[in-house]
Amino acid sequence: MVDIVACTNSQILASRIAGALGARLIPVERKVFPDGELYVRLLGEPGDEAVVVQSLSPKPNDALVELILVSETLRDLGVGRIAAVIPYMAYLRQDTRFNPGEAVSAEIIGRLVRSMGYYKIVTVDMHLHRVRDPSMLLGPAVRNLSAASILAEYAVKTHNLRNPVIIGPDEEAEQWAKKAAEPLGAEYTVFEKKRISPEEVILKPRGLPDLKNRDVVIVDDIISTGGTMAKAVAEAYKNKAGRVVAAATHAVLAPGALGRIYGAGAVDVVATDTIESPISMVSVARLIVEELKRP
Ligand code: R5P
Repeated sequence: MVDIVACTNSQILASRIAGALGARLIPVERKVFPDGELYVRLLGEPGDEAVVVQSLSPKPNDALVELILVSETLRDLGVGRIAAVIPYMAYLRQDTRFNPGEAVSAEIIGRLVRSMGYYKIVTVDMHLHRVRDPSMLLGPAVRNLSAASILAEYAVKTHNLRNPVIIGPDEEAEQWAKKAAEPLGAEYTVFEKKRISPEEVILKPRGLPDLKNRDVVIVDDIISTGGTMAKAVAEAYKNKAGRVVAAATHAVLAPGALGRIYGAGAVDVVATDTIESPISMVSVARLIVEELKRP
């Protein structure tokens, strides 16, 4: 019988996964010592197989150390088979050396996670830019799922959207726009994005269908500052869209992000529970459970 181990950042998702599998949930107690070190304790005795659930946001550094401490403790206690569910995998943006001397964090942290010897690493919508293949970073045990279709389905059903068009805010988001549109039989396209600064981007339409009398779902992987999403929402309205819903897998949500997107006129901003947030309306638990059941 598998135990689901709920680390600090994914307590709700871990309980949903345990509930759907009918598995036992082992909570984790985490305290921070005055010098910033973490104290970690499993609040239950594990059996011989465990799945550790830990999103690497918020506080990716603490989250990563907790994941390592918990996983190694499970091994010390004799658990033979350990899988990791890392619904939001951090450190992926620095996937190359842009300037001399920089750490290629995506590769280094990927190697670290890989070295933990998990039999399976389940992630969701990894931010893969220059490195397209997730196994190049996390090895052959990785299973990178996508929440794009369940997000778009939620947006369309909840808001009863008319003849929706799915739009990715940039070329990289084409993969998610496509996955979101296909099950709905909807049209999809992407904007062209140019980043001016960490907070500012310019978007331009490219082969956009006529949006008059049509609603739009903007689909992306991450909302961080909300700048990209806000620009995409505004651009859709500029092109005469009806109602626009903003949907992203990971709600990183820097301060002011939601204000920016609602300020651009979005009728709703939705995300999943890969990062627990006030807009986590869609759960990835079912997708993860299906993957955990696969051999
Ligand atoms: C960029 O390539 C990503 O797919 C997202 O569009 C981006 O990370 C969102 O960031 P922000 O919310 O800060 O614009």
